[in-house]
Amino acid sequence: MKILAIETSCDETGIALVEAKKVGDSFVFKTHKAMLLSQAALHAEYGGVYPNLAKREHEKNLPILYREFADLACDAVAVTHGPGLEPALWQGVEFAKRVAAERGVPLLPVNHMEGHLISSLVQKEHTNKLEFVSVLQNVQLPVLALLISGGHTEFVVMNEWFNYRVIGQTLDDAVGEAYDKVARMLGLSYPGGPEISKFATRSRERQGESTIKLPRPMLQSGTCDVSFSGLKTAALYSLRGLELSDEQKEDFAAEFEEAVGDVFVQKTRQALESTAAQTFVIGGGVAANTYLRERLQQLISDEFPDVEFRLPELAITGDNAIMIAQCALARALSGKNDAADSTLRAVGNLSIGQKVL
Ligand code: KG4
Ligand code: ZN
Repeated sequence: MKILAIETSCDETGIALVEAKKVGDSFVFKTHKAMLLSQAALHAEYGGVYPNLAKREHEKNLPILYREFADLACDAVAVTHGPGLEPALWQGVEFAKRVAAERGVPLLPVNHMEGHLISSLVQKEHTNKLEFVSVLQNVQLPVLALLISGGHTEFVVMNEWFNYRVIGQTLDDAVGEAYDKVARMLGLSYPGGPEISKFATRSRERQGESTIKLPRPMLQSGTCDVSFSGLKTAALYSLRGLELSDEQKEDFAAEFEEAVGDVFVQKTRQALESTAAQTFVIGGGVAANTYLRERLQQLISDEFPDVEFRLPELAITGDNAIMIAQCALARALSGKNDAADSTLRAVGNLSIGQKVL
């Protein structure tokens, strides 16, 4: 089965054509073509994503990208219909409706966070890497997923395939947003996550130590919820009126990453204990962060050696259409028929599952 997928939930316009087949209990994916146009440089001027600018750019970019796919056949068209910036999502949804109608194939709506989750469980097939082959197999349920992006921060449990419960989430800002805002306070460019990571790495390499200390919010709350607005405000107040040298900025970035790392290690420990998950996976743009990957890897090997830790390939941690295609393919090949019609809507606050305590 071949799916043409479209992603426009934030500031990346993505189209991908991915084929999959089910072999026993495994799904084998082959990416035929994947294209991505990032608007990050444009939004950098505003220090964040500006929704109407994103919408205009998607409108301009979709036909340009689609030209490269126009002659390639597919069995269905998949599209992100939420969550994300609603004006941006609508561009993808309306475009996908037209393409599906023109091709006379079903239209499959995909939840963006489910796309991050499922694609993060998929593993690269090293035997055939020139063909971009990857597989989804041997996943032991329950799965605990930590989804960390610019708009979301949530702990999700999958007890049965494609059935999700949210057991913890941010009460205010997403962690990616905190990275972006703190980066801005330090005068670093958007998107701030990779910049903070670069600065913090330099500090750790020379064993720097920040004189400014930041709080570890909600560490002892007893729930799997997190909060980052207090951390952001603490960063703002502690930097006010100060002129930091580059080394001091690096040390501050490392202190910020350490605070975020401490929070996620404690909350992940709690989530793993309360769910008895057999697989732990992280997904979303912030899952590219080297320091967080290492801290969580350490937690799993020290305290949960029986849990399998899966990490997404770096090429697909940020928003892209391959993850949307993989999610739609895994669902379709599992008999989850989600086909939508021309009334499909973009839903900015679409959730992946019910929140449970
Ligand atoms: O999933 P994503 O591409 O878009 C959303 O769905 O929001 O995530 C974007 C977020 C941004 O906040 C960006 O700063 C952050 O992911 N990010 C990182 C890194 N790379 C991207 N944060 C920390 N470390 C990174 N290496
Ligand atoms: Zn995302």
